Amino acid sequence: MTQEDSGTRWGVVGTGAIAHSFLEGLRAAPSARVTAVGSRTRSRAEEFGRAWDVPNRYGSYEELAADPEVDVVYVATPHPWHHPNTLLMLNAGKHVLVEKPMAMNALQVSEMMAAARANDRFLMEAMWTRYLPAPRLARELVADGAIGELCSVSAEFGINVPYNPDHRLFNADLGGGALLDLGVYPLALASQYLGELTVVGATRQLSPDRMVDTQTTVLVRGENGVSATLGCASRTALPNRAVLAGTAGWIELPAFWTASELVLHRQGREPERFHRPFRANGYEYEIEEVTRCLAAGERQSPDMPWAESARLAVVMDQIRDAGGLVYSPANVKAVPLG
Ligand SMILES: NC(=O)c1ccc[n+]([C@@H]2O[C@H](COP(=O)([O-])OP(=O)(O)OC[C@H]3O[C@@H](n4cnc5c(N)ncnc54)[C@H](OP(=O)(O)O)[C@@H]3O)[C@@H](O)[C@H]2O)c1
Repeated sequence: MTQEDSGTRWGVVGTGAIAHSFLEGLRAAPSARVTAVGSRTRSRAEEFGRAWDVPNRYGSYEELAADPEVDVVYVATPHPWHHPNTLLMLNAGKHVLVEKPMAMNALQVSEMMAAARANDRFLMEAMWTRYLPAPRLARELVADGAIGELCSVSAEFGINVPYNPDHRLFNADLGGGALLDLGVYPLALASQYLGELTVVGATRQLSPDRMVDTQTTVLVRGENGVSATLGCASRTALPNRAVLAGTAGWIELPAFWTASELVLHRQGREPERFHRPFRANGYEYEIEEVTRCLAAGERQSPDMPWAESARLAVVMDQIRDAGGLVYSPANVKAVPLG
């Protein structure tokens, strides 16, 4: 086997925006190469395959699932299809990295975990932010006591996307809503530092058709007593900053969901700025983690284990249910709010 032939063989499900970004990251990840792409339409698979030099191009996801030249599949479809696409791939014997949020609700996540266990396959929610160098450094600094004892976390992720009821972010049939799409990032950050989360309160704004949230603000308490205030929005440009505050100072992660720097503020000292630029576009780090896990025979990443994806899904269910926004497990259609 030549060097070119070696490495983890990736298949990509869906040819949308993030699939392109992912492959840019994959080019910078050692021991990984893309061998196949599956699309709902053959022409899109061909177009994507030409753009990224993918040898095996399929006009259905089922054909990709049957490709023996694929070890691990990246599921890059809209939220309601994470569950069926992941089950298809796991049951065909593929390992799976599935985009965030892992699924529409906690029931679907539990079924995906059960399928990974039954098929003895790797499964991970693509919480790529966790694997970036700056957030990793923040973890180390907090663990080393750089800010004393952690007391609170605040984080938000908001962008102003022009309202379009057909857009993935606003369309309930496509699993829309700021919470599912964007809110999962601040929640995941909180869960990393707080452990089990209890939702203390939540407030939201809705889309004009009242089918999805366009803004959600949440107060949560962790099992360690630390609290977090979290926000997400699809019609508001937020600062997108995260702050980890402790008894001796605080760490700021500007643009935390794609952080390449952090600022450490120790009480009574000048701020210290740490730059941690990406090698490529940032997706290379989660890809490297999948490669590492597969080489080690691990079925979960210790940095984003199944239990944590399940925990995030439960919390998001609770936040949505409290607002009367229900995506039923069967057809994931939202029930309009009154
Ligand atoms: N990690 C990140 O930074 C990041 C950023 C953006 C999005 N995401 C996540 O990535 C996923 C996809 O987002 P995206 O922005 O790439 O979406 P997108 O541009 O709309 O692409 C989604 C792709 O999924 C496939 N698909 C399958 N069923 C579909 C359906 N019923 N309607 C529309 N498309 C369908 C399509 O590919 P084919 O037609 O080829 O089958 C489509 O191109 C979402 O889970 C999102 O949350 C992650």
